[in-house]
Amino acid sequence: MSIYRADLLQGEKILVTGGGTGLGKSMAQAFAAHGAEVIIWGRRGSVLDETAAELREATGGKITGQAVDIRNAGAIDETMQAIFDEGPLTGLVNNAAGNFVSRTEDLSPNAFNAIASIVAHGTFNTTVAAGKRWIAGGHKGNILSIVTTWVWTGGPFTVPSAMSKAGVAAMTQSLAVEWGPKGIRANAIAPGPFPTKGAWERLMPEPLAKKTGAGQGASTIPMRRFGEHIELANLAIFLMSGGCDYLTGEVIAIDGGQWLTSGGNFGSLNNLDDSDWDMIKSAIQSTNAADRAKRTA
Ligand code: HXC
Repeated sequence: MSIYRADLLQGEKILVTGGGTGLGKSMAQAFAAHGAEVIIWGRRGSVLDETAAELREATGGKITGQAVDIRNAGAIDETMQAIFDEGPLTGLVNNAAGNFVSRTEDLSPNAFNAIASIVAHGTFNTTVAAGKRWIAGGHKGNILSIVTTWVWTGGPFTVPSAMSKAGVAAMTQSLAVEWGPKGIRANAIAPGPFPTKGAWERLMPEPLAKKTGAGQGASTIPMRRFGEHIELANLAIFLMSGGCDYLTGEVIAIDGGQWLTSGGNFGSLNNLDDSDWDMIKSAIQSTNAADRAKRTA
């Protein structure tokens, strides 16, 4: 059962990047269930169509999928213009991300770009595409970005993600000040372990889970369990609603207290050896290849 009035987000029009799966899908569903019109972006048209249909059925709301790869600045701008031609967005959720666990010395420039082009560049380009239209049209706007607790602790073995997410946290604080006078607010959520397929396969691939036992249980989390998507969605609804318009520039962790007790990052992987990393890399690369095949199918 929801903790909010069913029409709390009536009149809102919210874009969720990476909304076809995982946490983005859960937030999209929650927004639609509370009356918002929702647009979801993702790389795979068929996944978006399926998700949009499923969420329409589940919520009775208006949900549209648009295949946009946020690594492509031109596609972002063109699609954003088409959205605003029909009426301005009221909210943007920067949720799309990419990540994989690796020793940093094993990363090529291309590997760094694979992450940064989504998380840093894609988030910036999407935010500016919405923001400049809000400013030009004199509209209010509300930006919510999904980051990680690594913005405070660093992210050993996930350096491109940690660098990019820290940049998104800096963007959040910067724009809260720069765009605040224009009626635009910007906040971020730093989720801890909320199991999703995309993240788990790349951050806790089977050889790593077997070796460390990590990801199997929740013993390092003070709340002794993983997060439930509805809990993250409830926080996102609150931030996207008009009930807290004075809240801006904040990064809010929702992680069961994990980062305060154990850092919530991969620092413990320091004792893996070369053969462990070979197995981890090949598991991740098979996942990436399988996903690429699905995108081109
Ligand atoms: C070293 C690796 C590697 C590995 C890939 N590479 N895996 N290097 N170790 N394990 C290198 C490749 O060799 C290549 O470089 C480059 O990275 C790009 O690899 P591709 O396989 O071509 O990657 P690509 O198809 O672009 O896919 C990468 C990706 C993918 C876009 C990041 O993982 C993806 O689609 N992810 C979306 C879903 C996802 O990751 N969700 C998790 C988000 S979790 P060379 O030089 O060989 O060309 C998150 C935070 C979670 O953001 C926080 C939890 C607490």
